[in-house]
Amino acid sequence: CHCSGLGHCSGLYISGFGNECASEDPRCPGALPEGQNNPQVCPYNLYAEQLSGSAFTCPRSTNKRSWLYRILPSVSHKPFESVDQGHVTHNWDEVGPDPNQLRWKPFEIPKASQKKVDFVSGLHTLCGAGDIRSNNGLAVHIFLCNTSMDRSYSLLPSILSVPQKGKLLIYTEFGKMLVQPKEICVIQRGMRFSIDVFEETRGYILEVYGIHFELPDLGPIGANGLANPRDFLIPVAWYEDLQVPGGFTVINKYQGKLFAAKQDVSPFNVVAWHGNYTPYKYNLENFMVINSVAFDHADPSIFTVLTAKSVRPGVAIADFVIFPPRWGVAEKTFRPPYYHRNCMSEFMGLIKGHYEAKQGGFLPGGGSLHSPMTPHGPDADCFEKASKARLVPERIADGTMAFMFESSLSMAVTRWGLKTSNCLDENYYKCWEPLKSHFTPNSRNAAGPN
Ligand SMILES: [Fe+2]
Repeated sequence: CHCSGLGHCSGLYISGFGNECASEDPRCPGALPEGQNNPQVCPYNLYAEQLSGSAFTCPRSTNKRSWLYRILPSVSHKPFESVDQGHVTHNWDEVGPDPNQLRWKPFEIPKASQKKVDFVSGLHTLCGAGDIRSNNGLAVHIFLCNTSMDRSYSLLPSILSVPQKGKLLIYTEFGKMLVQPKEICVIQRGMRFSIDVFEETRGYILEVYGIHFELPDLGPIGANGLANPRDFLIPVAWYEDLQVPGGFTVINKYQGKLFAAKQDVSPFNVVAWHGNYTPYKYNLENFMVINSVAFDHADPSIFTVLTAKSVRPGVAIADFVIFPPRWGVAEKTFRPPYYHRNCMSEFMGLIKGHYEAKQGGFLPGGGSLHSPMTPHGPDADCFEKASKARLVPERIADGTMAFMFESSLSMAVTRWGLKTSNCLDENYYKCWEPLKSHFTPNSRNAAGPN
């Protein structure tokens, strides 16, 4: 492979967020046309196909497209036919709204010995908002699977995948990515992929409609910090030249419904590609954490890895935020997350370990949803301990990785989320019940440890 701009190639991946990259399968050197995109006849007699991720006329800073040089074009397929939706939905009116704090126990992964479930049949929509047809909205899905996708290939709107248990070997038209827990990957709109799993596997998906994830602006932080562009990894070209009559199934999530089409050729027949519209992965351990070193809290936007912007300045359809291991050093400060009510929706998940504000109940593979203006914060036990703690420098969140999908949209929860999954924790609200008044109307001086 070779990369234009600042891309660095490790052999397995090209590095750099949003770079203009180029990659050829080493079995076919020179597969990329030189000096033009559309020669009359392409090298190795391949077909040229453009995949556009943005309107042709978007400004350069947001213009996304890639050119794929493939054995047969994507159009070589039988008609799409409607297939069983399983637990995938975009119906946000299945059940009535629920403004309560919601928390889920770990979502159960089906046992391979009982039922084989692959990534697509194991997709469960938990919550979401907005409208697919107008390209405005998002959905949160949980995937629970135990079997690789066998000669089936999926085509979804833009997704960010957060595996929690088990590795994902993701085949894409652009090449292969191995994504392990504590890594995330983004597969952008229209990109075909297939996922192999190696055990009972679980994870979270943030789907956004019609927009792309970007790195957040850094403002006064400067040129470096948070998720650095060089740490994003893009696969290198890899193809399989397989033809089996009717042997391959492409599953298309179109306007929220699932369709399938048969074809004779593997969709992973791209011998070379170039462009800036690609899938990518990122290791969350590379996140450079910024935080308060004096007193009080920076708002959690300081932990934003990727953002999918709305058209309103500063307002996201979805932010992907993490709470990584770090030092807590703030003086004269209540250090856990503060009590708050937020105009945004906050879905949280836990990849591993214990979340700092709640030692029990919020477990790896589970989740929580705090909807707009729904109050939340540390449980009573956490408040009592943190109010009395000696404020020495301490490690926070070692061995853990919690994350948040935050949205300016008010998300509805699906029937699966509230009922069918059987994972909703009916007792969540009780973690705040022991909170008691410490009010001392006749004494202003706080009865703290110092
Ligand atoms: Fe919150």
